[in-house]
Amino acid sequence: MKHFTHIADLGPEGVQEVLDQAVAWKANAPGHHLAGRILGMVFFNPSLRTRTSFEAAMIRGGGNAIVLEVGNGVWRLESRDGVVMDGDLTEHLREAVPVLGRYTDFLAVRAFSDGGGLDADDADSVINAFRRFAGVPVISMESAREHPCQGLADMLTVRENFGDLQNLPVTLTWAPHIKRLPRAVPNSFLLSAAASGCDVRVVHPEGFDLAPSVLEQAHEYARATGGKVSVLRDRAEAAAGSKVLYAKAWGPTDGTAEVRLEDWMTRDSDFDMMHRDAIFCHCLPVRRNLEVSETVLDGPRSHVIDEAENRFHVQRVILDRLKGGA
Ligand code: CP
Repeated sequence: MKHFTHIADLGPEGVQEVLDQAVAWKANAPGHHLAGRILGMVFFNPSLRTRTSFEAAMIRGGGNAIVLEVGNGVWRLESRDGVVMDGDLTEHLREAVPVLGRYTDFLAVRAFSDGGGLDADDADSVINAFRRFAGVPVISMESAREHPCQGLADMLTVRENFGDLQNLPVTLTWAPHIKRLPRAVPNSFLLSAAASGCDVRVVHPEGFDLAPSVLEQAHEYARATGGKVSVLRDRAEAAAGSKVLYAKAWGPTDGTAEVRLEDWMTRDSDFDMMHRDAIFCHCLPVRRNLEVSETVLDGPRSHVIDEAENRFHVQRVILDRLKGGA
């Protein structure tokens, strides 16, 4: 693995290897495995967990992290090729990225979807420019298409609760939100769960489809792992007997779909039809009493804090695997 920007960089086998190592390292911390290494972290968008968990992983591993917030003490960056740079953007990724690669051993990047649609998300132009020009390993801290470290942390959390992931029924449900959020998190949960052999049920209102390319990749992983992927409209059907309810908001496919938000907020009653030990997951940040009721978030089924902790554990493994190329 030269970079980790998409679940495809690991594939189903690699996902399981990372989870195995994360479990082992949670029990026995690895010491200063990143001594002398520098991680450059480039943020085009804000963060709480991602920034802190990567910085913590570098510091606990004996290395260092340099954080750059684009447009906040750092030049605003152009990513489009062939444009006349006569606007507000000062520097092109074609110069900025290789320069950063000369100072650091890895580059981690957060560049959300710009809302340009499913094809633009698929092209993932900013993270792919980093892959092309960095000269050092690149890690996604969430790009237009995926948030792969989140997907790994989610599956580690599920595995800690249920052990064997093979054919484990897990439900990814659309959640209400006041903003049209990107699809990177639901894409990554779907791909990570399919790569782990789960029985993944995705449920969302009409007009909120995930990208065909992501669904195709998830089906391919399910075929390889003996898992299953279903896309449903009915929440009760998707939740029946399931062991995980993963709620996430994302925007409408064509920008126009309307939905009754109160029909989709996760409540305690959603768990009536699920497995008796079912857990609730969310990547955070979460909007209380909009995406999910506070009684679910504050109740015993919620594992959202564990998921956030697990970001640290899986990222430590990813950094270690990439350091060979650093
Ligand atoms: N889940 C996640 O990526 O959180 P942040 O946006 O706070 O980094």
